[in-house]
Amino acid sequence: MNVFVERETHLILWQRYAPTFLSVPKLLKIVGTNITIHKMFFFTLFIGLQIFLYGFPQYCKISKFQKLLDRLGITNGVKNKPRITEVKDEDFNRTKIVMANNGVGIKLFQNKQDDLEATFGEKIESITHDSNPGYTKIILSKYHWPKVVKFSSLSSFDLPKDHFILGQSSNGIVTQNINELPHMLIAGTTGSGKSILFKEILVSLLKSSPYLQLYLLDLKGGVEVQDFKDYPNATIVKDMKKAVFTLQLLKDEMDRRFAYLEKNGYREIQPLRDKMDKIVIAIDEASALYMKNFANQEASTLSKRAKELTDSLAKLARAAGIHLILATQKVTKETIDTHIQENISGKFCFKTNTLQGSVTVLGNGAAYSLPDIPGRGIWSLGNKLIEIQAPLITSAEIKEFGQQLVEEFKNGGRKMLQPKITLTQSQNENHLLPEGDVCTKKTRKIF
Ligand SMILES: Nc1ncnc2c1ncn2[C@@H]1O[C@H](COP(=O)(O)OP(=O)(O)OP(=O)(O)O)[C@@H](O)[C@H]1O
Ligand SMILES: [Mg+2]
Repeated sequence: MNVFVERETHLILWQRYAPTFLSVPKLLKIVGTNITIHKMFFFTLFIGLQIFLYGFPQYCKISKFQKLLDRLGITNGVKNKPRITEVKDEDFNRTKIVMANNGVGIKLFQNKQDDLEATFGEKIESITHDSNPGYTKIILSKYHWPKVVKFSSLSSFDLPKDHFILGQSSNGIVTQNINELPHMLIAGTTGSGKSILFKEILVSLLKSSPYLQLYLLDLKGGVEVQDFKDYPNATIVKDMKKAVFTLQLLKDEMDRRFAYLEKNGYREIQPLRDKMDKIVIAIDEASALYMKNFANQEASTLSKRAKELTDSLAKLARAAGIHLILATQKVTKETIDTHIQENISGKFCFKTNTLQGSVTVLGNGAAYSLPDIPGRGIWSLGNKLIEIQAPLITSAEIKEFGQQLVEEFKNGGRKMLQPKITLTQSQNENHLLPEGDVCTKKTRKIF
C-alpha cells in the first residue's frame, strides 16, 4: 500500500507547520507569564485558523489532482500509485504538480503525456525530475507557448526609439529600452540560444536607433559576428590583443565624453546635440576574454586588463551613451568578474544545467526549471522576472539587413555622427598599446 507515501505527506505537512508550533513557547514568553485560559484559547484558535487557511486549499488542490491522476491507473509493478505532494501556482499561467514517483519511472509519465493533458484539461509544458529524483515535476500551462518565434514574423512590430526585442511572453512581445538598462548579460547552457538572441538584439536595436556604432568582440574566431561584417557602423574584433586595445580605446572615449559632459554641464550624451553616436560593445563568449590562462602569462595579463577595462565601462558608461552586452555560458567570478556582474542589471538567462547556475545569474532557480526548448529563457530586470521565447533570427536575415544599412548610409538616410573608434594602422600592425590609465608599466612591456 501507500503507507510510505502517506507518511511522507505527513512529514511534509509537519515540516511546513513545525516552525509555527515551535514558535509557541517564544510567543508565550512575549505574551507574559500571567496567561489566562482565555488568552490560551484565542491563541490556539488563531494558530488553528492559520493552519486551516493555509493548508485546506492546498489539501483540496492535491486531492482534486490526485483523483484525476488515479483515473489513469498509472502504477508500478506492485500496483503502487504515484502520490501528489504539492500543487502550486507558479504564476498566472502555470501550475506546478510535484509527485512522489512511488516506483513509477519518469518515462512512463512522459509516454502518457497525451492522457495526462486530457485528464488534467491543460497543456503540459514539461515533465522533469524534481531536485529529488524520487519525485517528478509536471508543469501545466494555460498559455500555449510557441516553440519558435520567427524574427521575420515581428517585422511589422512598431519598435519605440532605442528599444530592442527580447521575444514573446504570455503577455505579448517584450521590448527593452537600452537607455534604461544600461548593460546586459546573456547566460545559459550550450545550444540554448545565447548567440541567436545576442545577434537579434543588435539587429532590432539598429532598427530603432539611428545613431549607433557596434563594437563586436568574439574571440571564438568571430564566427558568430561574421554576419555583421558588411555593416558600415560595426567593428569586428576577433583576437585577444585587439580586443583589449579596443576596450582601452572605448574606455578613453568614455573618459573624453565625461570631460565633455562636465565642461558643458550636461547630464548625459544626446547623440544629435553632442554629435556622438551611441556605442554598444557586444561580447559573445565573454568568458574567453576574461578567463585566466595559467599556462600563458601574456594571455593572463591581457585577460586581467580586459576585466579592469570592462569593469570601468560597466560602472560608468551609462551617461556616456556606452552600453555592454555580454554573452557567456557560465557565470562565475572567474568568467565574469563579480564587480562587472554587480553593474549589469539586465539578465537574460536561458536554461541552465544546474540549480546553482540559475541562482548565480538570477538569484533564483527559475532558469533551471525551464523546459528544454532553445530560445526559452527568463528576463530579469529589477524585480521583474518574465519568461520569454526569444526570436529566431537567421544569418540570411542579418546579412539582408546589412545590405539595407549599406544602402541607407550610401543615400544619406543614415549617418554616423563621429568616425569609428578603431586601432590606427600602426597600432594594428605593430601591436602598440594605446595610452590609458589602466595600462601599467608592467603590462606595457609585454607588447
Ligand atoms: N530563439 C530560438 N528559437 C528557436 N531555436 C533557437 C533559438 N535560439 C537558438 N535556437 C536553436 O539552437 C541552436 C543553438 O543556438 P545558439 O548558437 O544561439 O546557442 P548558444 O547558447 O549560443 O550555444 P553555445 O554556448 O554553444 O555558443 C540554433 O542553431 C538554433 O537551431
Ligand atoms: Mg553561442
